[in-house]
Amino acid sequence: MRSFLFILVICLPGFLGVPVEYSHVESTAGKGLINCALCNSIISDIFLGFQNGQTDEEISAGIGQRCETLNLYNFKVCNGTAAIAMPTIRYIYSLGVIEGNICGMLLQTENCGFSDPGVLEWSVAPSSVPKPPVTEPALPPTGSPTLKVLHLSDIHWDPEYLEGSNAVCGDPLCCRASSGEVVNATDAAGYWGDRRDCDLPWRTVEKAVAHMAQQHPDTAYIIWTGDLTPHDTWSTDKDENLMIIDRLMTLIQQYFPTVPVYPTLGNHESHPVNTFAPPEITDVEFNTAWLYDEADRQWARWLPADVSSSVRYGGYYTALAQPGLRIVSMNMNYCYIFNYWTYYKSQDPASILTWLNQVLEDAELAGEKVHILSHIPPGNLDCWTIFSREFAKIINRFESTVAAQFYGHTHNDEYKIFYDLEELNRPINIAFVAPSLTTSSDNPGYRIYTVDGQRPGSTWAVLDHSSWIMNLTVANAQDPSIDPVWFELYQAKRDYALTDLSPRSMDAFYQQLVTDDALFQMYFEHYYKKSEERLEKGCDIDCRTKLLCFIVTTDPLDQSRCQNISQLLNQHPEF
Ligand SMILES: *[C@@H]1O[C@H](CO)[C@@H](O)[C@H](O)[C@H]1NC(C)=O
Ligand SMILES: *[C@@H]1O[C@H](CO)[C@@H](O)[C@H](O)[C@H]1NC(C)=O
Ligand SMILES: *[C@@H]1O[C@H](CO)[C@@H](O)[C@H](O)[C@H]1NC(C)=O
Ligand SMILES: *[C@@H]1O[C@H](CO)[C@@H](O)[C@H](O)[C@H]1NC(C)=O
Repeated sequence: MRSFLFILVICLPGFLGVPVEYSHVESTAGKGLINCALCNSIISDIFLGFQNGQTDEEISAGIGQRCETLNLYNFKVCNGTAAIAMPTIRYIYSLGVIEGNICGMLLQTENCGFSDPGVLEWSVAPSSVPKPPVTEPALPPTGSPTLKVLHLSDIHWDPEYLEGSNAVCGDPLCCRASSGEVVNATDAAGYWGDRRDCDLPWRTVEKAVAHMAQQHPDTAYIIWTGDLTPHDTWSTDKDENLMIIDRLMTLIQQYFPTVPVYPTLGNHESHPVNTFAPPEITDVEFNTAWLYDEADRQWARWLPADVSSSVRYGGYYTALAQPGLRIVSMNMNYCYIFNYWTYYKSQDPASILTWLNQVLEDAELAGEKVHILSHIPPGNLDCWTIFSREFAKIINRFESTVAAQFYGHTHNDEYKIFYDLEELNRPINIAFVAPSLTTSSDNPGYRIYTVDGQRPGSTWAVLDHSSWIMNLTVANAQDPSIDPVWFELYQAKRDYALTDLSPRSMDAFYQQLVTDDALFQMYFEHYYKKSEERLEKGCDIDCRTKLLCFIVTTDPLDQSRCQNISQLLNQHPEF
């Protein structure tokens, strides 16, 4: 059933860059049926249009009409998004892509088929250094130093947000002057944001950051996992994206003047949305140099000068956060199946995994521990299977060096477990996925981690985390002169009754989530940042399967652990 929902929403809007983050799956389901045959027919029409000399405008208008007929989105959204992307799609087509592989990649979990799957296969040469024996890290002695790390994700500031405008407009993004008439007073956008399809006004972002600085002055450093720009995929432009990046980076620096920040690029930072070209594309009209160069300039506020070359090459870097603790910021947009460039080059784009392998090998040799951060979690349903599989192999090899991983993108408060590839039930690593600051259907949120700190033999492991949210309902009901109140929603160790956050404990917690309904309900509430509409809807068996599957899936095509979940849940019809 999860797959079915997935098919409903993914292909066409996904291909056009209209948002299909999984938080949107439920809200857009039912808008129209998209399947493999339809996907292939749309791609085929676009390519036929190129061959027959149709202009980008004609092809985009055709898609706009088709979108309306299929009741996906209106003409403006589909034509606009297609029109922005079409020159890039045409350029990639001219370089040669295998048409019959595109829908196979886009609908990777749906067995859509590949006309030539062989060309997509690849692997990263494994490290020639043998894997050291694994010893389970001991917890730090009581009283050991810790680090407080702030994790900020998916801000999605909308410069055009307008309170009182229409929040139920049917577009991927509402709450703007252009969102149409407000027909019912309850459809009007709130002052501090709106949990319907809306991003954040500036004031909410600024008050949030002011609160963080005031509440967490002891923050050692910030990890910032991307998606700064709004979801208006049909009307983006480079200048606006660059303006947003600059304003937000300046804001964070202003409130945290002495705190280092480790950023990464989200799929929304690019224009056309989701497009991240591999470095061999030198045509400046179509490559990603404009964004990587600007990221390098912006991030120089916090990062050492030696990250410049890899940031400008592929949008990734490594830097020491503390003696003994290395940050690796990955550009996971190279695994994103909605990045058109993936159809052209999916084999280790920008040699990013080869690079990761080398960085981890060097770190292991130097006795360092590593925190990996990026926007899109590997193994997410929209991260290419082969990339995810190769990534998981690297995590396996370097399980003792990678102390933790951090991602965003899903907008939800969740986590993912990596398992050993031989001893299948042995958990080896945890990816922490932070909630979004933007509403875009939930309350605003962010995370705080407590990390094993500077001491001889530090594990640099995540010892605990907590999530902070604001109650948008309360904030919007108050006089606008009253600032929103932020509060701690939960603490992982305390509220989930965990002894620690090791892979072993997080796996035990997962097992408990499958069978303990009360515990699952708590997890579900936190997952959606306790947003009233979500809680009212509840979490049926498909929803449960989706949330639980995410935790144990690191390769979207290996659903074996999920089949197990369905079986287990089916034994509990009372859920
Ligand atoms: C489609 O969108 C593009 C880009 O916004 C615009 O220039 C064009 O006029 C639109 N086409 C139609 C038929 O409205
Ligand atoms: C306005 O919205 C409220 C709450 O959703 C609903 O009860 C009411 O019927 C709506 N009024 C109109 C005119 O649609
Ligand atoms: C937010 O406030 C509303 C209205 O008072 C309340 O019903 C809801 O439970 C609150 N949510 C959270 C997460 O505190
Ligand atoms: C599936 O569940 C059974 C018990 O219900 C368990 O023994 C088995 O290890 C599970 N398999 C996986 C891959 O988790």
